[in-house]
Formats: sequence, C-alpha cells, structure tokens
Amino acid sequence: MIMTTLKQTLPALLLTLAGTVSTAAFAADEVDLEALTNTCAACHGADGNSTVPTNPKLAGQYESYLVQALKSYRSGDRQNAIMNGFATNLSDAEIKALAEYFSSQDGSLATAERP
Ligand code: HEC
Repeated sequence: MIMTTLKQTLPALLLTLAGTVSTAAFAADEVDLEALTNTCAACHGADGNSTVPTNPKLAGQYESYLVQALKSYRSGDRQNAIMNGFATNLSDAEIKALAEYFSSQDGSLATAERP
C-alpha cells in the first residue's frame, strides 16, 4: 500500500523537482547579455564607444545613469523613437546587466575642442 503510493507520487515529485531546478536555471540565465549587447552594438559600438555622433557613447557612463536612462525610455518618460522601441521589452535584470556592462567599459568620453 505504502509502496504503491510512493510509486505513484515519486514520479510526480521528481517532475516537480525537475521543474523547480529548470526554472531556477532559467532565472539565472535569463539575461543573455551577449545577444542584448549585439543589438546595441549596431549603434553604440560593441564596447559602448559609439563612433557616430548622433548615437551617444555608453562606455564609462555611470551605471545608475544608464539604468535611469533605460527605465525612462521603457516607461516613455524619456522620448526617443529609436530607444523607446529598444527599451520597451527590457526587464529590470536586463537593464541592470546592460548598465553594468557599459559602465565598466573604458570610456572615450571627452569634452569638445574649444573653437
Ligand atoms: C538603431 C540605433 C540604436 C540602437 C540599436 C540602440 N540605441 Fe541606444 N540610443 C540611440 C540613439 C539615437 C540615442 C539618443 C536618443 C536620445 O536623444 O534620447 C540612444 C540613447 C541611448 C541611451 C542614453 C544615453 C545618454 O547618454 O543619455 C542609452 C542608455 C542607450 N541608448 C542604451 C542602449 C542599449 C542598452 C541598447 C541595446 C539594447 C541600445 N541603446 C540600442 C540609438 C540606438
């Protein structure tokens, strides 16, 4: 009797456990930073040092500023047709990972030459 119950519940229990484990693994992996930064690279450069003046440099900017900028694009508080589109589907974790990545790159920020 006990064995029958165990035989019936064990597979269910294992399935539940497997589900928990794979959900945990998914949560840890949920940010695919490489895929994300590949998208940004087209405009902001692979390391965030954009060479196109209309696309801001992200490298070396404060992490908190980048988080704020991306959340503002996502919410629409900061309006830009391009960036609103790219930020709309970013999760908080993705925004944090992107901000961490770009802020930790060596920045080539500089002030403009005096005329
Ligand atoms: C198609 C070109 C393009 C792509 C791709 C793109 N951006 Fe942008 N990004 C821009 C432009 C243009 C601006 C300036 C918008 C403005 O004036 O607010 C900008 C602004 C920003 C800013 C604000 C910078 C500042 O100094 O205030 C951040 C942060 C940013 N982008 C992050 C990203 C991230 C992260 C990705 C990838 C997920 C990305 N962008 C993808 C074009 C792009």
